[in-house]
Amino acid sequence: MKIVFDLITTEFVIWVIAAIVLAIWTAYYLRKPLSFHDKHVFVTGGSGGIGKAIATEVIKEGGRVSLFARGQYGLEDAKNEIVLKTNCNPNSIQIFPGDVNDSLGTLTKIIDDSEKNHGPIFMLVNTAGYAVAGRFEDLSVDNFKAMMSVNFMGTVSVSKVVVPRMKNRGEGVVVLFGSQAGLTGIFGYTAYAATKFALRGFAEALSMEVKPYNISVTLACPPDTDTPGLIMENKTKPKETCLISDSSGVLPAQDVAKQTLEDAKMKRFLSTNGFEGKILTTVCCGMAPITSYFELAIQKGMKSKDLDKESRKYNLTKVSWKWNDNTICHSKMKV
Ligand SMILES: NC(=O)c1ccc[n+]([C@@H]2O[C@H](COP(=O)([O-])OP(=O)(O)OC[C@H]3O[C@@H](n4cnc5c(N)ncnc54)[C@H](OP(=O)(O)O)[C@@H]3O)[C@@H](O)[C@H]2O)c1
Repeated sequence: MKIVFDLITTEFVIWVIAAIVLAIWTAYYLRKPLSFHDKHVFVTGGSGGIGKAIATEVIKEGGRVSLFARGQYGLEDAKNEIVLKTNCNPNSIQIFPGDVNDSLGTLTKIIDDSEKNHGPIFMLVNTAGYAVAGRFEDLSVDNFKAMMSVNFMGTVSVSKVVVPRMKNRGEGVVVLFGSQAGLTGIFGYTAYAATKFALRGFAEALSMEVKPYNISVTLACPPDTDTPGLIMENKTKPKETCLISDSSGVLPAQDVAKQTLEDAKMKRFLSTNGFEGKILTTVCCGMAPITSYFELAIQKGMKSKDLDKESRKYNLTKVSWKWNDNTICHSKMKV
């Protein structure tokens, strides 16, 4: 026994820790990202802004896209623009006019049609959404209802049609568009932030349900992005909201699209952009699904601070349970 203790020098311990850290790091970075090559990606809101940029990136990678939005002309323009930009086969882009608030029957018919030529949907990207800002007293109840209906219920409806198909096939990726205003409440966004917070809850719960079926959920939380949607939103922003958003600049839609796709490929739950975004997702991580060792360490560290011994034990159990991809729960269900 004494010989064993003699061997455990400080240097030895440091080397062991370094080896473990390196092994974890290597395992994390050597994870094979998903590929969209030859895959069908369905993009709601695909005729404008971030949705169009995402479709362009998927086409560049050799995927097939279906663009879904309300305006037929906007869809045709988007298709022509992507073909011109990427020199792709025009048949790799299909367009479907419709509203995310259409009935489930109508949405099912559209999804059926999209899968006839392009094959099963591998990734669903829900970008259709918009923001109207304003002080609480200046926003009408109808503003709240309309935004909730497109940003939240629209995403729920389209996912309701697509997710069961993914579950049957045992693969898929669901991307939902939240916002930095869905991580922290910001002046002027009582309505918009509420819709994006709702999406976060939906995304967290859905992620836990579908993970055993090899389906990942990514919640994109971009900052202000240069899109037609932002131009419209800026017209409604109170002075205070402008001051807050001016402090963090505006990103090109292509940057947001690339980052979102990279995170979706790595099956990361929270996707964001830049240093500020990283800080925000870190401090607002709550008990979000853990998709990396880094997130596990952050969540554990953050939650241990002010907890008594008992709740710390409970917390550790919950974190480890989520980390285990809820396989325990799932295997119990199977028995
Ligand atoms: N831009 C930003 O600064 C920013 C920041 C954070 C989060 N986001 C979120 O990112 C997403 C995309 O934003 P964006 O700025 O790219 O928007 P955008 O430029 O306004 O484009 C929105 C797209 O969605 C479609 N759309 C709108 N309502 C729809 C509906 N009811 N049914 C089907 N399609 C609909 C639009 O086409 P039609 O009008 O023809 O239907 C268009 O193709 C939104 O969810 C937004 O909240 C944006």
